[in-house]
Amino acid sequence: MPRGYPERPQTGESDQLPAKPAVRGVSFSISPGETLALVGESGSGKSTIVRAIAGLLAPTRGRLVFDGQDITLPVERRTKELRRQIQLILQNPDASLNPRHRLWRIIGRPIEFFFRTSGREQQRGVAELLETVQLDAGYMWRMPSDLSGGERQRVAIARALAARPKLLLCDEILSALDVSVQAGILNLLRALQAGHGLSFLFISHDLAVVRSLAHRVAVLYQGELCEVGGVREVFSPPFHPYTEVLFRAQPVPAPGEDLPTDVPSGSELEGEEAVPACPFAPRCPRKVGSICDRVPPPWSTVSATHAIRCHIPGGELAKLQAI
Ligand SMILES: Nc1ncnc2c1ncn2[C@@H]1O[C@H](COP(=O)(O)OP(=O)(O)OP(=O)(O)O)[C@@H](O)[C@H]1O
Ligand code: SF4
Ligand SMILES: [Mg+2]
Repeated sequence: MPRGYPERPQTGESDQLPAKPAVRGVSFSISPGETLALVGESGSGKSTIVRAIAGLLAPTRGRLVFDGQDITLPVERRTKELRRQIQLILQNPDASLNPRHRLWRIIGRPIEFFFRTSGREQQRGVAELLETVQLDAGYMWRMPSDLSGGERQRVAIARALAARPKLLLCDEILSALDVSVQAGILNLLRALQAGHGLSFLFISHDLAVVRSLAHRVAVLYQGELCEVGGVREVFSPPFHPYTEVLFRAQPVPAPGEDLPTDVPSGSELEGEEAVPACPFAPRCPRKVGSICDRVPPPWSTVSATHAIRCHIPGGELAKLQAI
């Protein structure tokens, strides 16, 4: 598990690296104006990746690059300009909106901090942002408690936009909202991207939302990427065996439970091999044999933009999955 920057111990036993970090060997890029969706079951490491990009967690190894600049730095060591350009929105706006402040202050603060704007000019900025997220400018005099959940999430988005970011990190920002409110926010995100060329790293459990918003999709399983491609490519065969299970909504057996009889569980392996080379091996319905436990699967290129990490080549997966 990458550790939080603030608690990072300097010396002593507790300074040892964790045996198995929550995220390993993950590499992807996001272009300007692009939405990359990160999907994977709970605990697969999606938020860990987002928090590392936001500078809230220290990667134990690897590098984060933004606009050609190394940003593998905790948020407090990042320049103000960098902090402005990368903004994070979380699932629960209540945790991030100060309940004692009116919206003009909540949204006005980043305007003041990043652009040194105050007074009437700042108020005009707040009004414009509220209108951008389709709330009446008069809302600036309200408290967060006066708003519905959907309205509070819009305020959280307005506050992130107040920084005029280039990259928005959206971690399950729709999960707590009604479907009708979700649709409004999705439309808003699309409009913002078209109008401002924003890039999104978008995390969602809802595959319909991912399908409608993302340009590209990265599939994460237990901290490792297993498939990356254009949204149409990832949503149609060939699938990585995990993506296949995920998208076809077949129940994925928990480790050690209801495993197909020809699939050994991870616990049958010994010593270092107790962690299979392919993390999906203990649950994979298409496991080809002990090679999956012992040899890290290679990336196979399905197209210039679509890659799958599996011992079964993409062409073979396509044939198997066409049946
Ligand atoms: N603060 C923490 N301390 C220790 N381990 C943690 C912490 N936060 C997350 N983890 C572990 O790191 C792994 C990845 O968690 P993460 O929250 O990134 O998953 P996720 O894909 O975002 O899941 P979810 O869909 O439930 O939000 C999990 O095994 C989790 O138990
Ligand atoms: S490498 Fe083996 S276990 Fe892993 S997904 Fe492919 S077939 Fe399944
Ligand atoms: Mg999460």
